[in-house]
Amino acid sequence: MSVAPSRVVVRPAPEPRAAGHKERPKLLELRDVTTHYGPIRVLHKVNMTIYPGEMVCLLGGNASGKSTTLKTILGIVRVSEGELYLNGERVDGMSTAERIERGLAVVPENRRIFPKMTVRENLELGAYLRHDRAAIREDMDYVFSLFPRLGERLGQLGGTMSGGEQQMLAMGRALMSRPKLILMDEPSMGLAPLFVEKIFEIIKQVNERGISVFVVEQNANIALSIADRGYVLQTGEVVLSGPARELLHNEAMKRAYLGDV
Ligand SMILES: Nc1ncnc2c1ncn2[C@@H]1O[C@H](COP(=O)(O)OP(=O)(O)O)[C@@H](O)[C@H]1O
Ligand SMILES: [Mg+2]
Repeated sequence: MSVAPSRVVVRPAPEPRAAGHKERPKLLELRDVTTHYGPIRVLHKVNMTIYPGEMVCLLGGNASGKSTTLKTILGIVRVSEGELYLNGERVDGMSTAERIERGLAVVPENRRIFPKMTVRENLELGAYLRHDRAAIREDMDYVFSLFPRLGERLGQLGGTMSGGEQQMLAMGRALMSRPKLILMDEPSMGLAPLFVEKIFEIIKQVNERGISVFVVEQNANIALSIADRGYVLQTGEVVLSGPARELLHNEAMKRAYLGDV
Protein backbone atom coordinates (compact mmCIF):
# COMPACT_ATOMS: atom_id res chain seq x y z
CA MET A 1 0.00 0.00 0.00
CA SER A 2 0.90 3.67 -0.26
CA VAL A 3 3.34 3.42 -3.15
CA ALA A 4 3.85 6.82 -4.72
CA PRO A 5 1.89 6.89 -7.97
CA SER A 6 3.54 10.05 -9.22
CA ARG A 7 6.55 12.11 -8.26
CA VAL A 8 5.98 14.57 -5.49
CA VAL A 9 7.27 17.77 -7.01
CA VAL A 10 8.64 19.88 -4.25
CA ARG A 11 12.02 21.32 -3.53
CA PRO A 12 14.06 19.58 -0.84
CA ALA A 13 12.90 21.12 2.39
CA PRO A 14 15.37 23.06 4.53
CA GLU A 15 16.47 21.42 7.72
CA PRO A 16 14.29 22.18 10.73
CA ARG A 17 15.49 25.04 12.87
CA ALA A 18 14.32 24.93 16.42
CA ALA A 19 12.94 28.42 16.94
CA GLY A 20 15.09 30.39 19.32
CA HIS A 21 17.37 27.42 20.00
CA LYS A 22 20.07 27.88 17.46
CA GLU A 23 22.49 25.76 19.43
CA ARG A 24 20.05 23.03 20.39
CA PRO A 25 22.08 19.82 20.49
CA LYS A 26 21.33 17.21 17.88
CA LEU A 27 21.01 13.55 18.74
CA LEU A 28 21.44 12.38 15.17
CA GLU A 29 22.54 14.23 12.09
CA LEU A 30 22.98 13.08 8.52
CA ARG A 31 24.88 15.70 6.58
CA ASP A 32 24.75 15.34 2.79
CA VAL A 33 24.89 11.57 3.10
CA THR A 34 25.29 9.58 -0.10
CA THR A 35 25.46 5.79 -0.18
CA HIS A 36 25.98 3.14 -2.83
CA TYR A 37 25.38 -0.56 -3.30
CA GLY A 38 28.35 -1.34 -5.51
CA PRO A 39 28.18 1.13 -8.38
CA ILE A 40 24.50 1.95 -7.78
CA ARG A 41 23.83 5.12 -5.86
CA VAL A 42 20.93 4.76 -3.43
CA LEU A 43 20.89 7.76 -1.07
CA HIS A 44 21.81 11.13 -2.55
CA LYS A 45 22.89 14.02 -0.33
CA VAL A 46 20.43 13.21 2.41
CA ASN A 47 20.13 15.66 5.30
CA MET A 48 18.22 14.64 8.40
CA THR A 49 18.28 15.70 12.02
CA ILE A 50 16.74 14.20 15.13
CA TYR A 51 16.69 16.23 18.33
CA PRO A 52 16.70 14.55 21.75
CA GLY A 53 13.27 13.28 22.73
CA GLU A 54 11.75 13.51 19.27
CA MET A 55 9.76 10.95 17.38
CA VAL A 56 10.44 11.30 13.68
CA CYS A 57 9.02 9.19 10.88
CA LEU A 58 10.59 8.33 7.57
CA LEU A 59 8.11 7.85 4.74
CA GLY A 60 8.35 7.02 1.09
CA GLY A 61 7.33 4.49 -1.52
CA ASN A 62 8.88 1.10 -2.16
CA ALA A 63 12.61 1.11 -2.85
CA SER A 64 12.94 4.81 -2.04
CA GLY A 65 15.83 4.11 0.36
CA LYS A 66 14.11 4.01 3.77
CA SER A 67 15.72 0.79 4.99
CA THR A 68 19.03 1.89 3.50
CA THR A 69 18.83 5.07 5.58
CA LEU A 70 18.44 3.07 8.79
CA LYS A 71 21.21 0.67 7.74
CA THR A 72 23.47 3.62 7.04
CA ILE A 73 22.82 5.08 10.49
CA LEU A 74 23.65 1.68 11.99
CA GLY A 75 26.78 1.22 9.91
CA ILE A 76 25.54 -1.78 7.95
CA VAL A 77 25.74 0.34 4.79
CA ARG A 78 28.77 2.60 4.40
CA VAL A 79 28.54 6.37 3.91
CA SER A 80 30.28 7.04 0.61
CA GLU A 81 30.02 10.84 0.82
CA GLY A 82 28.88 13.10 3.61
CA GLU A 83 28.97 12.84 7.38
CA LEU A 84 27.01 11.17 10.13
CA TYR A 85 26.94 12.42 13.73
CA LEU A 86 25.56 10.91 16.93
CA ASN A 87 25.38 13.34 19.84
CA GLY A 88 27.79 15.62 18.02
CA GLU A 89 30.36 12.90 17.54
CA ARG A 90 31.25 11.82 14.03
CA VAL A 91 30.43 8.11 13.71
CA ASP A 92 30.46 7.26 10.01
CA GLY A 93 33.90 5.65 10.38
CA MET A 94 32.76 3.55 13.37
CA SER A 95 31.60 -0.06 13.51
CA THR A 96 27.99 -0.96 14.22
CA ALA A 97 28.98 -2.16 17.71
CA GLU A 98 30.61 1.19 18.50
CA ARG A 99 27.46 3.00 17.41
CA ILE A 100 25.28 0.71 19.52
CA GLU A 101 27.50 1.46 22.51
CA ARG A 102 26.73 5.14 21.90
CA GLY A 103 22.99 4.61 22.32
CA LEU A 104 21.51 3.23 19.12
CA ALA A 105 19.12 0.29 19.04
CA VAL A 106 17.22 -1.22 16.15
CA VAL A 107 13.96 -3.04 15.61
CA PRO A 108 14.74 -4.49 12.20
CA GLU A 109 12.49 -5.16 9.27
CA ASN A 110 10.49 -8.38 9.78
CA ARG A 111 11.40 -8.44 13.47
CA ARG A 112 14.45 -10.75 13.23
CA ILE A 113 14.18 -12.11 16.71
CA PHE A 114 16.14 -15.28 17.46
CA PRO A 115 13.58 -18.04 16.79
CA LYS A 116 15.43 -20.84 18.62
CA MET A 117 15.94 -18.79 21.75
CA THR A 118 13.41 -18.20 24.47
CA VAL A 119 11.72 -14.88 25.12
CA ARG A 120 13.99 -14.36 28.13
CA GLU A 121 17.14 -15.13 26.13
CA ASN A 122 16.07 -12.77 23.36
CA LEU A 123 15.55 -9.98 25.88
CA GLU A 124 18.84 -10.70 27.65
CA LEU A 125 20.67 -10.44 24.33
CA GLY A 126 19.40 -6.89 24.03
CA ALA A 127 21.40 -6.07 27.17
CA TYR A 128 24.57 -7.89 26.13
CA LEU A 129 26.76 -4.78 26.27
CA ARG A 130 25.61 -3.89 29.80
CA HIS A 131 26.85 -4.95 33.21
CA ASP A 132 24.54 -2.93 35.46
CA ARG A 133 22.54 -5.91 36.74
CA ALA A 134 20.04 -4.01 38.86
CA ALA A 135 19.26 -1.57 36.06
CA ILE A 136 18.90 -4.44 33.59
CA ARG A 137 16.31 -6.02 35.88
CA GLU A 138 14.49 -2.69 36.09
CA ASP A 139 14.42 -2.44 32.31
CA MET A 140 13.16 -6.00 32.02
CA ASP A 141 10.30 -5.03 34.36
CA TYR A 142 9.63 -1.96 32.24
CA VAL A 143 9.41 -4.18 29.15
CA PHE A 144 6.95 -6.47 30.96
CA SER A 145 4.84 -3.48 31.96
CA LEU A 146 4.61 -2.47 28.28
CA PHE A 147 4.12 -6.04 27.06
CA PRO A 148 2.63 -8.22 29.82
CA ARG A 149 2.45 -11.06 27.31
CA LEU A 150 6.25 -11.31 27.23
CA GLY A 151 6.41 -11.71 30.99
CA GLU A 152 3.91 -14.56 30.78
CA ARG A 153 5.88 -16.32 28.02
CA LEU A 154 9.47 -16.13 29.23
CA GLY A 155 10.21 -19.76 28.43
CA GLN A 156 8.55 -19.83 25.02
CA LEU A 157 10.74 -20.02 21.91
CA GLY A 158 10.68 -16.75 19.98
CA GLY A 159 9.95 -18.49 16.70
CA THR A 160 6.72 -20.00 18.01
CA MET A 161 5.17 -16.64 18.86
CA SER A 162 2.68 -14.83 16.62
CA GLY A 163 3.79 -12.00 14.35
CA GLY A 164 2.50 -9.38 16.76
CA GLU A 165 4.16 -11.05 19.73
CA GLN A 166 7.45 -11.22 17.84
CA GLN A 167 7.14 -7.49 17.14
CA MET A 168 6.70 -6.92 20.89
CA LEU A 169 9.74 -9.08 21.56
CA ALA A 170 11.83 -7.18 19.01
CA MET A 171 10.81 -3.89 20.64
CA GLY A 172 11.49 -5.29 24.09
CA ARG A 173 14.91 -6.48 23.01
CA ALA A 174 15.74 -3.02 21.64
CA LEU A 175 14.64 -1.40 24.91
CA MET A 176 16.89 -3.73 26.92
CA SER A 177 19.96 -1.84 25.71
CA ARG A 178 18.55 1.34 27.34
CA PRO A 179 18.97 3.24 24.05
CA LYS A 180 18.90 6.96 23.38
CA LEU A 181 17.51 6.41 19.90
CA ILE A 182 15.52 3.47 18.56
CA LEU A 183 15.44 2.89 14.82
CA MET A 184 12.39 0.92 13.68
CA ASP A 185 11.87 -0.46 10.21
CA GLU A 186 8.18 -0.85 9.37
CA PRO A 187 6.92 -2.09 12.73
CA SER A 188 3.38 -2.47 11.39
CA MET A 189 4.37 -4.76 8.51
CA GLY A 190 2.09 -7.78 8.31
CA LEU A 191 0.16 -7.02 11.49
CA ALA A 192 -3.62 -6.86 11.87
CA PRO A 193 -4.97 -3.28 12.08
CA LEU A 194 -5.82 -3.55 15.77
CA PHE A 195 -2.32 -4.69 16.51
CA VAL A 196 -0.85 -1.86 14.46
CA GLU A 197 -2.69 0.66 16.63
CA LYS A 198 -1.48 -1.09 19.76
CA ILE A 199 2.14 -1.11 18.58
CA PHE A 200 2.02 2.60 17.75
CA GLU A 201 0.45 3.39 21.11
CA ILE A 202 3.37 1.65 22.75
CA ILE A 203 5.91 3.41 20.53
CA LYS A 204 4.35 6.66 21.71
CA GLN A 205 4.65 5.60 25.36
CA VAL A 206 8.29 4.68 24.86
CA ASN A 207 8.91 8.05 23.26
CA GLU A 208 7.15 9.83 26.12
CA ARG A 209 9.65 8.21 28.45
CA GLY A 210 12.31 10.26 26.68
CA ILE A 211 13.64 7.72 24.22
CA SER A 212 13.94 9.18 20.74
CA VAL A 213 12.37 7.20 17.91
CA PHE A 214 13.10 7.16 14.20
CA VAL A 215 10.48 5.01 12.54
CA VAL A 216 10.20 3.92 8.91
CA GLU A 217 6.60 3.36 8.01
CA GLN A 218 4.51 2.59 4.93
CA ASN A 219 1.38 3.59 6.80
CA ALA A 220 1.91 7.34 6.58
CA ASN A 221 -1.38 8.22 8.26
CA ILE A 222 -0.71 6.39 11.48
CA ALA A 223 2.95 7.41 11.62
CA LEU A 224 2.19 11.10 11.07
CA SER A 225 -0.63 11.01 13.57
CA ILE A 226 1.81 10.35 16.42
CA ALA A 227 5.22 11.59 15.21
CA ASP A 228 6.61 15.08 15.83
CA ARG A 229 8.16 15.42 12.39
CA GLY A 230 8.57 13.48 9.19
CA TYR A 231 10.83 13.12 6.19
CA VAL A 232 9.74 11.83 2.80
CA LEU A 233 12.22 10.02 0.58
CA GLN A 234 11.87 9.55 -3.14
CA THR A 235 14.51 7.60 -5.08
CA GLY A 236 17.03 8.29 -2.35
CA GLU A 237 16.41 12.01 -1.95
CA VAL A 238 14.52 13.94 0.70
CA VAL A 239 11.67 15.63 -1.18
CA LEU A 240 9.61 16.81 1.76
CA SER A 241 10.07 17.29 5.47
CA GLY A 242 8.38 19.12 8.26
CA PRO A 243 6.16 18.90 11.30
CA ALA A 244 3.93 15.81 11.12
CA ARG A 245 0.77 17.90 11.25
CA GLU A 246 1.87 19.92 8.21
CA LEU A 247 2.73 16.81 6.25
CA LEU A 248 -0.67 15.33 7.04
CA HIS A 249 -2.28 18.34 5.36
CA ASN A 250 0.21 18.78 2.55
CA GLU A 251 -1.51 18.43 -0.83
CA ALA A 252 1.34 16.62 -2.60
CA MET A 253 1.63 14.31 0.37
CA LYS A 254 -2.10 13.55 0.33
CA ARG A 255 -2.03 12.69 -3.36
CA ALA A 256 1.06 10.54 -3.21
CA TYR A 257 1.01 8.81 0.15
CA LEU A 258 -2.05 9.38 2.23
CA GLY A 259 -4.75 8.01 -0.05
CA ASP A 260 -8.25 9.35 0.33
CA VAL A 261 -8.27 10.81 3.78
N1 LIG B 1 21.95 -5.17 -0.52
C1 LIG B 1 21.56 -4.49 -1.61
N2 LIG B 1 22.27 -4.57 -2.77
C2 LIG B 1 21.92 -3.88 -3.86
N3 LIG B 1 20.86 -3.05 -3.92
C3 LIG B 1 20.11 -2.92 -2.81
C4 LIG B 1 20.42 -3.64 -1.61
N4 LIG B 1 19.49 -3.32 -0.67
C5 LIG B 1 18.64 -2.45 -1.27
N5 LIG B 1 19.00 -2.21 -2.54
C6 LIG B 1 18.33 -1.30 -3.48
O1 LIG B 1 18.36 0.01 -2.94
C7 LIG B 1 17.14 0.69 -3.17
C8 LIG B 1 16.55 1.14 -1.85
O2 LIG B 1 16.19 0.00 -1.08
P1 LIG B 1 15.58 0.11 0.39
O3 LIG B 1 16.41 1.03 1.18
O4 LIG B 1 15.42 -1.28 0.90
O5 LIG B 1 14.17 0.78 0.09
P2 LIG B 1 12.85 0.88 1.01
O6 LIG B 1 13.19 0.41 2.38
O7 LIG B 1 12.47 2.31 0.94
O8 LIG B 1 11.82 0.01 0.34
C9 LIG B 1 16.26 -0.29 -3.94
O9 LIG B 1 16.35 0.00 -5.31
C10 LIG B 1 16.86 -1.63 -3.63
O10 LIG B 1 16.65 -2.54 -4.67
MG1 LIG C 1 12.43 -1.11 3.54
